[in-house]
Amino acid sequence: MKILIDGSSGMLGTDIIPIFRKYFDIFTPSRTEMNVIDEKSVDKIISTGKFDWVVHLAALTDLDWCEDNPVEAMRVNADGTKNIANACLKYNVKMMYISTSGVFSGIHEKPYTENNIPEPVNVYGKSKYRGEKFVQEILPEQNILILRVGWLFGGGKNDKKFVGKMFHLIEEKPKVFAVHDIFGSPNYSIDIGQTMVDLIDSDIYGIFHVANSGNPASRYDIAKSIRDFMNAETKVLPVSSKKFPTKAFRPPMEAIESVKINDAIGHKLRHWKDALDEYVQRLKNEF
Ligand SMILES: NC(=O)c1ccc[n+]([C@@H]2O[C@H](COP(=O)([O-])OP(=O)(O)OC[C@H]3O[C@@H](n4cnc5c(N)ncnc54)[C@H](OP(=O)(O)O)[C@@H]3O)[C@@H](O)[C@H]2O)c1
Repeated sequence: MKILIDGSSGMLGTDIIPIFRKYFDIFTPSRTEMNVIDEKSVDKIISTGKFDWVVHLAALTDLDWCEDNPVEAMRVNADGTKNIANACLKYNVKMMYISTSGVFSGIHEKPYTENNIPEPVNVYGKSKYRGEKFVQEILPEQNILILRVGWLFGGGKNDKKFVGKMFHLIEEKPKVFAVHDIFGSPNYSIDIGQTMVDLIDSDIYGIFHVANSGNPASRYDIAKSIRDFMNAETKVLPVSSKKFPTKAFRPPMEAIESVKINDAIGHKLRHWKDALDEYVQRLKNEF
């Protein structure tokens, strides 16, 4: 099977490429080779490859930057996705689109399932949801996989997100602070990559929530686990999100769970703590 993966230099791409390479013939154009906002370059690359699938990862993912630059965020995350979907329709290629738990309003007290209706509250969430809509409007149902993922960790040396930063802070500081009143679903990129492969193999289509199992976690919960898995003495202290005001509104409940994944691939993803432990040991080896 031949698969094009865009956005492969990012955090998720770094970890899923070696997994995909084990099973498929993959092609990973850089942003210079295929800028998703350039309809012509998208059409040209997809027309020539005889691909079975396009896995669309490319996006602007900095929530606060997106909030300040809504036009550019929509152009890349929504219109870029539309360009990919149009080319997939034209050349009869299936499309997997990686979306986000950030499409939900976050006012529920429980994790969001595939049965909840999205209602994004910030520019990033709106742009990703618009992308979902384009995929569904343009492509036939049986050619689509939309995966909503939670709070990613992974990427090793390329990890500039919370877990990577916290790992280094805990190494260096006697005391760290982490927000305790916003909850999400921690997700190891390696586990997402294997699930992506399993879903492609299963010949099932539609929208899936893909998250490691376990209760919703705050950044404070995650930081404490990182500290424990590092066997460090650093104190981890809870702090209110009000102490760290951000441009983009972060709703209190960003956690997701799936009511479909078990039936689709035959198992749930492992507990996020087991995945995080494995990742922390990997970071110890990589640095
Ligand atoms: N990180 C998370 O916690 C999270 C959570 C839920 C969903 N997601 C989704 O998962 C996907 C991957 O996220 P990530 O964390 O790996 O993102 P990332 O590290 O920010 O990487 C983004 C990737 O997109 C590429 N890109 C950006 N603009 C582009 C354009 N105009 N044309 C072509 N490529 C472009 C970047 O290329 P350059 O290297 O050239 O900049 C990079 O390869 C995204 O769709 C994101 O919305 C992420």
